[in-house]
Amino acid sequence: MSGPYLDVTGVSKRFGGLQALDDCSFAIEPGQITCLVGPNGAGKTSVFNVITGFIRPDAGQVRFRGQVLTRMGSRRIVGLGICRSFQNLRLFADLSVLDNVTVYLPSRTDENPFRPILRPIRTEIERKRRMAAAMSILEEVGLAHRARDAVRNLSYGEQKLLCVARLMASGAELLLLDEPTSGLSAQALEAMIALVLRLKAAGRTFLVVEHNTRIVQRLADSVVFLHQGHVLAQGEPAAIVADPKLGEIYFGGAL
Ligand SMILES: Nc1ncnc2c1ncn2[C@@H]1O[C@H](COP(=O)(O)OP(=O)(O)O)[C@@H](O)[C@H]1O
Ligand SMILES: [Mg+2]
Repeated sequence: MSGPYLDVTGVSKRFGGLQALDDCSFAIEPGQITCLVGPNGAGKTSVFNVITGFIRPDAGQVRFRGQVLTRMGSRRIVGLGICRSFQNLRLFADLSVLDNVTVYLPSRTDENPFRPILRPIRTEIERKRRMAAAMSILEEVGLAHRARDAVRNLSYGEQKLLCVARLMASGAELLLLDEPTSGLSAQALEAMIALVLRLKAAGRTFLVVEHNTRIVQRLADSVVFLHQGHVLAQGEPAAIVADPKLGEIYFGGAL
């Protein structure tokens, strides 16, 4: 690999009169969980939007495995192996749990021109293969028993697990989770933490927006502290959480 895994360098983004990101720089190591923390409005979701190509920064760049992402479209970035969840979930509420996962499975582009007479059979084989792949992901996240249910009938905690299942289906190696634990019951919270730690053990890399400092300490290998669009500190969770200046900004400010 040439250079760092993912690095954000000097990224700035202004919305009208508001400087959402201000010379924002940090790096992510492969196989680690990096937590992105900071008060409401600090620019955390904007960082996700820049990395995933949803917004183009005014200055600075994002590189992934040495490739500059900043001018790429979001589809291409997904193709490189970066996938994100949304704070407001964006699930297909009327589709089944299974179909919500299936639509995220990469489609096979290498479809060879098999004889037309065999096409329906091949299509059926492909459909079954996709269903099986989606089911095995649902088993991994503990939602297999809900596969046929409409998403609208899931609990909020189940919906958030389903969001992670979709990212798994995409095959992405770098997963960006925007507040995956917010609003969860204690039980759903433990399921989410266990899932993320299992995926990390299996080799995936994470950037996670997380507010709760106890959860940060359980999840993070590294913490990036964002304030007014600028990274004030990056380091080990214990050091960041113990920093009185950062604590003042975090708890004395928006909360
Ligand atoms: N598309 C946008 N248009 C205008 N303002 C935006 C947009 N996205 C974010 N902002 C503003 O940028 C600031 C940072 O927002 P955001 O990145 O969502 O913060 P966080 O996720 O840390 O709470 C906020 O003041 C927000 O209102
Ligand atoms: Mg946000």
